[in-house]
Amino acid sequence: MKNIVIKVGGSLLLTKQNRINNDFISQFCQIIRQGKKYDQIIIICGGGSLAREYITFLRNKGINEALCDSIGINISQINSKMMIACLKDISYPKVPNNLEDLSLALQFGKIIVMGGIQPGQSTTSVAMEVAEFINAPRVIILTDVQGIYDKDPAKNKDAKLIKSLSYDELNNLLMKVSSSSQSAAGEYRIFDLVSLQILRRSQLEVFITSGQNLEEFRKLLLEDKKINGTLISI
Ligand code: UTP
Repeated sequence: MKNIVIKVGGSLLLTKQNRINNDFISQFCQIIRQGKKYDQIIIICGGGSLAREYITFLRNKGINEALCDSIGINISQINSKMMIACLKDISYPKVPNNLEDLSLALQFGKIIVMGGIQPGQSTTSVAMEVAEFINAPRVIILTDVQGIYDKDPAKNKDAKLIKSLSYDELNNLLMKVSSSSQSAAGEYRIFDLVSLQILRRSQLEVFITSGQNLEEFRKLLLEDKKINGTLISI
């Protein structure tokens, strides 16, 4: 049995100006269509800057974090619907809202696309929960940077990519980031503590890499080739 979960960051689906990224989506769908060696592929879509736009607006109006999260979930589900439409006949037509919906969707042998499922977490956590649920040993996270760095690469030119991390090393890295901003709606960064907990208890392997060069992703997914990124494992 070969199952895989792929998380696609919202930053790849939508540009910073909130325009839909046609090039990325078309190319990504083409690669997924070739993934016949997998028994089950599940794609998790993030909410991106559009989710953050709604969340920031509502937070400034004094709306609680739970409601902000639920708007984020809705946006990630709209992105998922768009992905389902683009994958056409190879995808299950409905976005599962929870693990029960997912177990039903799994009966049909099609590619499943889903977004958020409950407040208080990120779509990365959903990817971990889903991998746990379908016994997928590996999760691929596609984002807009090459992986996890020792410093924020947007702010530090000398930031170095970390090629591999154990669960404990990742924990130490996450603890350095301010704990309050880690858990606000829209602010669960490239990896978070909820995701780490699930990762640890089910001993999943996660590979984080850039979705900006999809040829690299194709080599990883279809040919099991080594590419640049961060591997998180026990
Ligand atoms: P993400 O922040 O996970 O989307 O979900 P993203 O754009 O992929 O994130 P990056 O760019 O890779 O970091 C959007 C928001 O939806 C809510 C959270 O508020 C989250 O920040 N959400 C998502 C939930 O509350 N629960 C979920 O299960 C998933």
